[in-house]
Amino acid sequence: MKIAFSKPSVPAQGAVVVAIAEGGLLSATAQSLDAETKGSLGRAIAASRFEGKKGQTLTLLAPAGLAASRVLLVGIGKPKDFDAQAAQAFGGNAAAALLSSGETDAAIAIDTFPVQPLSPAEVAAQTAFGARLRSYRFDKYRTKEKKDEKPSLKRLTVQVEALADAKSSFARLDKLAEAIDFTRDLVSEPANIIHPESLAAQAETLTALGVEVEILGEKQMRKLGMGALLGVGQGSEHESKLVVMRWQGAEDTKAAPVAFVGKGVTFDSGGISIKPAGGMEEMKWDMAGSATVIGTIRALAARKAKVNAVGVVGLVENMPSGTAQRPGDVVTSMSGQTIEVINTDAEGRLVLADALWYTQDRFKPKFMVDLATLTGAIIISLGHEYAGLFSGDDRLADRLTAAGKAVGEPLWRLPLGEAYDKQIKSDIADMKNVGGREGGSITAAQFLKRFTNDVPWAHLDIAGTAWSKKDTATCPKGATAFGVRLLDRLVADHYEEKGSK
Ligand code: BES
Ligand code: MN
Ligand code: ZN
Repeated sequence: MKIAFSKPSVPAQGAVVVAIAEGGLLSATAQSLDAETKGSLGRAIAASRFEGKKGQTLTLLAPAGLAASRVLLVGIGKPKDFDAQAAQAFGGNAAAALLSSGETDAAIAIDTFPVQPLSPAEVAAQTAFGARLRSYRFDKYRTKEKKDEKPSLKRLTVQVEALADAKSSFARLDKLAEAIDFTRDLVSEPANIIHPESLAAQAETLTALGVEVEILGEKQMRKLGMGALLGVGQGSEHESKLVVMRWQGAEDTKAAPVAFVGKGVTFDSGGISIKPAGGMEEMKWDMAGSATVIGTIRALAARKAKVNAVGVVGLVENMPSGTAQRPGDVVTSMSGQTIEVINTDAEGRLVLADALWYTQDRFKPKFMVDLATLTGAIIISLGHEYAGLFSGDDRLADRLTAAGKAVGEPLWRLPLGEAYDKQIKSDIADMKNVGGREGGSITAAQFLKRFTNDVPWAHLDIAGTAWSKKDTATCPKGATAFGVRLLDRLVADHYEEKGSK
């Protein structure tokens, strides 16, 4: 689907989309269409349960008096709450209603209501962004789809008077959407296609945007002493990789970077502590943290963010085999700390242990944020609505929480604390890799903390939010790329040099 912008005009074909506010309040365009159709819009609203609430839609087909083939009414809720996220939902809901409707062309009229917080140009750009995000499809493996099963919508034109401003505002968002779609693609790919070597190769494509990409193989990691990460990958036919991406956008090339670290388990079978068969296919997306880091660096580079940023992802496949790590094995991490591997399915923390240590040791960053589909327990705690946030640094935690709220990727902070340390005490090593069922996400975070060397750090457990089994307004079911918008926003709000956007 292509997105275009134009000045307002009544289209001679295709669908027209208009906004209706709560209480059935018609936008200006809706009012004029209502007049041209002898009051059809008002009568349709009266005859239905459509009230203009956020997320509601109502379709009028072939209305007499209009050349357009349909009018789609989309509820936007209260005008005073019509912010960036609501405008994205407006676009997303419109796209969802039209994508497979049989229409090939649609025009969305951007009207302003009194007391609306955003400018019309910004509403237009955010509406287009939402429509674009919702129209994502991962369909490369569908070879037998019939024509009438494919999406029909080819072009969506956003109509707004402030054309130039809308276009330039959207250009920025369009690049962000490209990074989000890149992340969604990586997460959606099955594990026979995306494994450590191929995921590293995908990260390497960022060089086209000016990102420096280094790929460390097993030999180099062994030299560095990364026994924790390497132990996880030792049962796999695929070679483990550590990928380092550097975007040097700050004027001061020596300025300490911000750092993002991702768990990239391209398939988590559980290893010798093998997972049950039911649902195991979902563990292809156990590399979502790494895909989010790759997508974030891509987003920063694409908009030439004035910041130095580092992305480090640990890429491994967790498989059972004759060479696999056994329960009870003891590994030595790059930090020198030893770990007794009680359960080979608690592998993400082992990968991050070395990736975090390496990141602080080499880059001395301003802070590190790691993203990981780390624990099933976080889904028990927070469901699929919030990602878990763990941090000993209140300022970083508050900034992350605010950025998440602003972009609709909410975080909920959970505690850390020494009292949890006793759960990960080992009889024969410095620690063990599991702390029992109680507070499972917290003991995992407490484990990670030991590899941060007191650099300001936050951990995002995205096990509940990286993948969605339901459509949302701006995301079809599947990979969500949760975190890309959030981290891009975090950097834009606090870590970029002045005069940049
Ligand atoms: N990748 C899983 C966590 C996960 C579970 C992500 C469900 C998404 C959905 C992780 O590696 C894992 O297996 N964690 C174990 C830890 C346990 C063995 C201490 C878990 O959560 O069960
Ligand atoms: Mn696991
Ligand atoms: Zn895992």
